[in-house]
Amino acid sequence: MPTDAPDYALLARQLDALLDDRDWLTNSAQTCAFLMQELPALNWVGFYLQREPELLALGPFQGKPACHPIPFSKGVCGAAARTRETQLIDDVHAIADHIACDSASNAELVVPVVCDDRLWGVLDLDSPERGRFSKADQHGIEQLVKVFIASTDLT
Ligand code: SME
Repeated sequence: MPTDAPDYALLARQLDALLDDRDWLTNSAQTCAFLMQELPALNWVGFYLQREPELLALGPFQGKPACHPIPFSKGVCGAAARTRETQLIDDVHAIADHIACDSASNAELVVPVVCDDRLWGVLDLDSPERGRFSKADQHGIEQLVKVFIASTDLT
């Protein structure tokens, strides 16, 4: 069952206030820590960055050490990078090419980070609870990613 969605409008204002530097490394680290602190039932939050064509490199994250690198052709993160569309997965075990970094993860939400029509990376959230993420969470996290993009120099 999805956890009741938090007040994402409030979280967006708080994140906007937190990101008072335009540096991508500072802001992505702060965003991960903020999400891990504010959202219940997560076991991993992090950015994967596009630093070369068709490949995602592990960026700042909170949680256990994770898989690196991830090609665009594989996994839930790869699908988000390839399609530039959010991937909301209730049960990762139902996804044939899901990349299991942590056997505790059961649900996943991956939001592409696109700035000026260029894919900068993806934000990946994992949960041990099947069906953890609702459409309200998807829209809320997409709003938070917009705050991150607006607050950060991603060029
Ligand atoms: N499960 C992801 C890999 C990244 S980890 O969850 C941190 C995927 O299938 O792309």
